[in-house]
Amino acid sequence: MPDSPRHLDARPRSILVTGATGNVGREIVERLRSHDVNVRSLARRHIESRPGFESVAGDLTDPAVVRAALAGIDAVFLIWPLLDTAPAEPLLAELSAIQTHLVYLSSTAVDDPAAHQSDPIVQVHADMEALLHGAGLHPTVLRSDTLASNTRGWAAQLLAGDVVRGPDIARTAVVDERDVAAAAVAALLARNEELDRDSYLLTGPELLSRSDQVDLLGAALGRPLRFEAVPSELARARMLADGRNEQLVDALLAASTHRPDSTLVTDHVERLTGQPARTFARWSFDHAAEFTRRR
Ligand SMILES: NC(=O)c1ccc[n+]([C@@H]2O[C@H](COP(=O)([O-])OP(=O)(O)OC[C@H]3O[C@@H](n4cnc5c(N)ncnc54)[C@H](OP(=O)(O)O)[C@@H]3O)[C@@H](O)[C@H]2O)c1
Repeated sequence: MPDSPRHLDARPRSILVTGATGNVGREIVERLRSHDVNVRSLARRHIESRPGFESVAGDLTDPAVVRAALAGIDAVFLIWPLLDTAPAEPLLAELSAIQTHLVYLSSTAVDDPAAHQSDPIVQVHADMEALLHGAGLHPTVLRSDTLASNTRGWAAQLLAGDVVRGPDIARTAVVDERDVAAAAVAALLARNEELDRDSYLLTGPELLSRSDQVDLLGAALGRPLRFEAVPSELARARMLADGRNEQLVDALLAASTHRPDSTLVTDHVERLTGQPARTFARWSFDHAAEFTRRR
């Protein structure tokens, strides 16, 4: 059982989903449709409302937006998409004021004993977890491995050819974002006694390198795809030329350079959802159309 009590003894009636237009968030919103709960989304882009669902458009760092989004809410799915936790202060204050049941999406790369994390992306998750705990919010933390949906970043290259070029990255147990969403829904809807941990490590079933992922995607597409690792400096120049944010580019490259190979494969998706984690081969098959040019 978690050491700290959560704030819900009954199932929530109104859930806020942050990052609701993103890979994980939209899967959560979709899954919550089949449950008897009111859902509100928060993202900068607006989503059309429907019965039982409303959208708040605004920034997670804007106190007025966050206050409006949290009004009447009794459970929150929280992501923190920024590379710095300083702008989270108003959000933390608003969350503390209502003491809701909080599910935070973090990273399996967080190394608890380390004084400093491997790269800025992991550091922000470690810092955010510490801030949420420090504020007495008793979050249920879902630490996710590399999301399979990151593969969507290869779509432009694969619509143009059969080679994926980019920085190499450590081997990890890539996890399907649908499994992360299903785990989040289970955690959001659970009563206190139904969660056996404060923190879950959500992984896919097998450790994969970038090259393994490209091979599996190629098998699903019926094409002989190839991964070609690009040195950091060249990858940096290309990403900046594509108009990507410099701080993000440097954080991604630091992750590719400093994040160690993972050996972690868990059954925590199944513990929360009752279903084993999907393979990347399955993800590739289900999303093949996104990488295939229409004739
Ligand atoms: N990718 C991975 O491998 C991985 C692994 C572990 C953990 N995570 C965590 O999982 C989170 C979700 O991943 P994802 O792939 O679903 O992300 P995503 O597709 O990039 O979606 C990000 C979401 O955050 C919203 N957003 C961004 N900046 C915002 C801001 N300032 N204020 C309000 N909303 C904002 C975006 O919507 P708008 O643009 O409409 O605002 C979008 O809904 C990541 O942010 C990361 O913290 C990711």
